[in-house]
Amino acid sequence: MKSLVFASTNKGKLGELSLLLGPGWTVRSAAEFPSLPEVDEDRDTFEGNATKKAQTFAAALGGWALADDSGLCVDALGGRPGVFSARYGANDDERMTKLVRELDGVPVERRTARFVCVLALAGPTGELQLTRGTCDGHIGFTRKGTHGFGYDPLFHFADGRSLAELTAEQKSTISHRGAAFREMVPHLERLVR
Ligand code: IMP
Repeated sequence: MKSLVFASTNKGKLGELSLLLGPGWTVRSAAEFPSLPEVDEDRDTFEGNATKKAQTFAAALGGWALADDSGLCVDALGGRPGVFSARYGANDDERMTKLVRELDGVPVERRTARFVCVLALAGPTGELQLTRGTCDGHIGFTRKGTHGFGYDPLFHFADGRSLAELTAEQKSTISHRGAAFREMVPHLERLVR
């Protein structure tokens, strides 16, 4: 059984990753290691934050750590909230309310947006591998669907469905995290023993 620590306590992300990995893997949450240091996500790129988290955890654990940094980039807002997606409001409800308010009066054709996910895999002796995935859509005028997490109910596709209307399996086939993760799998197989 191969084992790695996922440097996140976000249950939604952990569930998506566990679904994507095969049965030969044990993915443990950072929540299982209360002694791990808090990592301040103070870099201005997804790559910078993911690398910082993965390297900090790999060094503290003396093992392999996978970290994800992700967010929503809205074209009409110059790419915001981007790396600040988690801190854009106090909770998902406030974040979505703020986003809809900021886009007040912006027509559908200018509401284009993408989710970005960068995964960083760091090893005990300085190994580092990054992958990146994106998912294109637009910000809807109203929330739709009950699945997923975060901004999913506001992230809509051309066919009218939102990410929150997809099952976890459907989401992982088209999501930014699914894409970054599928690209990471061969590196995990090659590097983690
Ligand atoms: P971080 O990667 O933990 O810094 O958090 C990124 C934030 O972006 C999350 O808290 C969500 O608000 C948002 N986000 C990232 N990925 C998704 C997704 O798949 N669906 C909805 N929101 C997401």
